Amino acid sequence: MKKITRRSFLAAAGLTAAALALTACGGSSSSTASSTASSAASSEAASTSAAAAELTTVEAGKLTMATNAAFPPYEMTTDAGEFEGIDVETAQAIAEKLGLELQIDDMDFDAALLSVQQGKADIVMAGVTVTDERKAVMDFSDSYATGIQSIIVPEGSDITSPDDLAGKKIGTQRGTTGYIYCSDDFGDENVVAYDNGLTAVQALNNGQVDAVVIDNAPAKEFVAANPGLVILDTSYAEEDYAIGMAKGSSLEDAINAALEELKADGTLQSIVDKYITAE
Ligand code: ARG
Repeated sequence: MKKITRRSFLAAAGLTAAALALTACGGSSSSTASSTASSAASSEAASTSAAAAELTTVEAGKLTMATNAAFPPYEMTTDAGEFEGIDVETAQAIAEKLGLELQIDDMDFDAALLSVQQGKADIVMAGVTVTDERKAVMDFSDSYATGIQSIIVPEGSDITSPDDLAGKKIGTQRGTTGYIYCSDDFGDENVVAYDNGLTAVQALNNGQVDAVVIDNAPAKEFVAANPGLVILDTSYAEEDYAIGMAKGSSLEDAINAALEELKADGTLQSIVDKYITAE
């Protein structure tokens, strides 16, 4: 004979109550109930199998993310030394979906790009722009944001459009698309590569360069913190941000699936809204 424990009894009672409630709703409720139950069961099965699937990562059980946490509002550190930002919270949400613990490795931007290529990190999430050159050496997830290369100048500068950068000294962050585009368009000798965006902006403040080319979201933060600097209305280039992985990474499908869910259920947008207030 089947022994009914208290727990299974309660569960059975709950089911009965639910069944009764559905019956009370009307004659067609039984088909509704069964389709709801089966879709709930299959979505549960899907997330369980995604988490349980053998995901091979650099460190077992962890999702190792290389980044350059000097790029607000995508990645930065709090006064207490903790990582925060759009990429950090998005990576956290992805790691949770994959059943992995997020591990963040902070380094220079060019080193972060290399880190996945050398198998030292599973992903690079650092406001990374998708380019054909990078696609030749690494794989990218679907895009999760749009980036814009902006031009920062001192107030009253005679640089008022991208074309005016010709013949000027341009500050950029080493290894970024800002550096690459500017050296292609205006010549290597006119572009100075700094360790990070902030040091480039400090060089602009000190008059060592005439302009800084950097992604728009950090540009806004740097300008807000440095009176006397402005961002030109005309942007220099538009790009897509994505998560970088090693070529042929086995994580790509799982990461894209997680990203898709975060987009569909509004999580990604709420993370963005937390860090970027609409003007
Ligand atoms: N979007 C630019 C690029 O991919 C700059 C990214 C810089 N990111 C950072 N965390 N410093 O080249």
